[in-house]
Amino acid sequence: MITGIVRTVAGDSADGTSNGYSSRRITRDPSVQNERAKRLKKLMTTSLICASHSPLLYCHAKPPTDWDALQNAYKERENAAKEFDADLVIAFGADHFNGFFLKLMPSFCVGLHATAVGDIGGFAGPLNVPTSIATEMVNNLRANDIDPAASTDMAIDHGFSQTINNMLGGLDAKPVIPVFINAIAEPYVPFRRTRLMGEAIGKFVAGLDQRVLLLASGGMSHNPRRYYPEIGQGTPEVAAWQRSGGDEAGSLSPKGWIDLLEEMHIEGAEMIVRGERTAKDMKLNQAADERFLEVFCAGRLEEFDTWDPYALVEDAGIGSMELHTWIAAAAAHRAAGGALPNLDFYTVAPELGIAAGIVHAD
Ligand SMILES: [Fe+2]
Repeated sequence: MITGIVRTVAGDSADGTSNGYSSRRITRDPSVQNERAKRLKKLMTTSLICASHSPLLYCHAKPPTDWDALQNAYKERENAAKEFDADLVIAFGADHFNGFFLKLMPSFCVGLHATAVGDIGGFAGPLNVPTSIATEMVNNLRANDIDPAASTDMAIDHGFSQTINNMLGGLDAKPVIPVFINAIAEPYVPFRRTRLMGEAIGKFVAGLDQRVLLLASGGMSHNPRRYYPEIGQGTPEVAAWQRSGGDEAGSLSPKGWIDLLEEMHIEGAEMIVRGERTAKDMKLNQAADERFLEVFCAGRLEEFDTWDPYALVEDAGIGSMELHTWIAAAAAHRAAGGALPNLDFYTVAPELGIAAGIVHAD
């Protein structure tokens, strides 16, 4: 026999304490416990979290007015992820010219091994990738007409690592399969392809008999072109870096790029506070985000198939392409039998360079 702790609300407590919650010890039959655990597992195959990221969460010059509410919303999702206690996490993320470069830019790439670089707003270190399941997933996707690239040494940046670290309590706290989506460079990926990939991943994970957290990182409207210029618009050494990741003569080095990003983000944070970079400059667009959320939270993911990525970038900035990660994760969750998404929090936060959104679904 094992013992457990039951929490009861004040007024209903077994020992009469009145501190809001109280505890009492009971004994439990292990076979009943196991049956209950099995039933619960069946009920929740997947869980969905979509959350914005930004380097400026770590280097803003002034916090936004609703900083505490935003932090609480992140914390609430972190606690929910802990409670869900996934066996496996599929992390959908973007890259900001740290792992993928213009000379060879896949639409999608599954990491069979992956390590995060230490860019500003990121957390450096290796992920704990379950290589055999990741390989099985790639094979399964390809057998189902989806063709992701696969990497045995994927470099990721804050576009994955910020959300993985903060939601899971560490980069290697859980087995994580990273799924990269190109959200930064033309030619853009059609949203339909992302939805179909997400659905195929959902069908794959539904057959695993594991509790799977689907974690999407990025969005909503924002336009960090100051840091990640359009093709050919940066200085010669930045343009060469974006093309080659340091291989071309005249390119920045990896350290030169990381240092430049840090310096420019600190400078950018101060420009925002001085009013030299406005919400309009950064394409923070609440109306565009509301249009997205209305379709997204209603589960009408097929509607995104006809959305024009070029028009969305014009309206809501290049950062809005990161909503690909939300569409992939939500399509996976829906295909695995998950419920509709709920909006937890939304704010337009110029001080953070983003319109931040947090969404979840059970
Ligand atoms: Fe990003």
